[in-house]
Amino acid sequence: MIILAFESSCDETSVAVAEIENGVYKIRSNIVASQITMHTLYGGVVPEIASRAHTEAISKLTYEALSEANVIPDDIDFVAVTSNPGLIGALLVGVGYAKAWAYANNKPLVAVNHIKGHTAAAYYSHEGLEAPFFALVASGGHTSMIDVKSPTEYVTVGRTRDDAAGEAFDKVARLLGIGYPGGAIMDKLAYEGNEKAIKLPCPALADSIDFSFSGLKTAVINYVNSEKQRGNEISHADIAASFSAAVVKAIITNLEKAHNIYGYKTLVIAGGVAANSHIRKAAAEFAENHGIRLCIPERSLCGDNAAMIAAQGYHEYLAGNIADSSLNAFSYQVT
Ligand code: KG4
Ligand code: ZN
Repeated sequence: MIILAFESSCDETSVAVAEIENGVYKIRSNIVASQITMHTLYGGVVPEIASRAHTEAISKLTYEALSEANVIPDDIDFVAVTSNPGLIGALLVGVGYAKAWAYANNKPLVAVNHIKGHTAAAYYSHEGLEAPFFALVASGGHTSMIDVKSPTEYVTVGRTRDDAAGEAFDKVARLLGIGYPGGAIMDKLAYEGNEKAIKLPCPALADSIDFSFSGLKTAVINYVNSEKQRGNEISHADIAASFSAAVVKAIITNLEKAHNIYGYKTLVIAGGVAANSHIRKAAAEFAENHGIRLCIPERSLCGDNAAMIAAQGYHEYLAGNIADSSLNAFSYQVT
């Protein structure tokens, strides 16, 4: 099947064409227009700017995606679009455009949950990956531990109770003034520091498989403020290393607890934060020690992109989850 997919839930406008058939997942095109430069000035995503930028970009990107994939609208079997969760104005641009495109070209329309989409990115690089599996989705907006019972049935069994993992990376990077978004910058910087230099709390909560990243972020803020008051120099690299080590420890601790409960044999780690090299390394060791198949999407598919929406759209389509013209967008999770 040839799928045209749209993603516009946050600050990336993306349009992709994927060819998926009998367990073989191929990306024909996956164009991502990042708005990072527009939001950098504000140190975070400005929803109004994001929506306007999606509106300006989406039509042109659709032509580009079709042309790079070497297909015409007639070749498309169905259209998939992220409908939830995300920034409401941003989502509405993608949903509105996808609805119009599907109607004008007389194609079925499929709505995709963004978090399911993140995990579905793993299908492209891990041949034979099939539900059931366990998933950790860690991004700028979400940190969810999910018992994936079937390709479309996701049960969230753990979550962050406050900030998302990526949000914590971004907020610490902003505090240090080292750039936005902070995840990738902190990832690199951590190699230059000592992870034992600063004592920080572990964001894995003791009584569940939930996380709390806000306490970790506050501990870093307190550390920076008290060192400044004492007139001490602070090492950005030591902070990045200690912070990363705390995040890695929390993730592995909760994956271990979840393994004891759910006994999963396959683990998917996805979302923007899954691009983190320290997390990838620790997860690979954890998986090897427990005889678990680890499936992390390749780095370029960890962040928001429409190819991942096409992959999940494929499963929704097979399950008969076809949307109609009343499809709406939701900032919270509905599917
Ligand atoms: O999945 P994504 O592109 O967007 C959301 O759905 O939120 O995730 C973006 C998040 C940002 O917070 C960014 O800092 C983080 O992913 N991120 C990373 C890395 N690359 C991106 N976090 C840690 N290490 C990285 N290498
Ligand atoms: Zn995302």
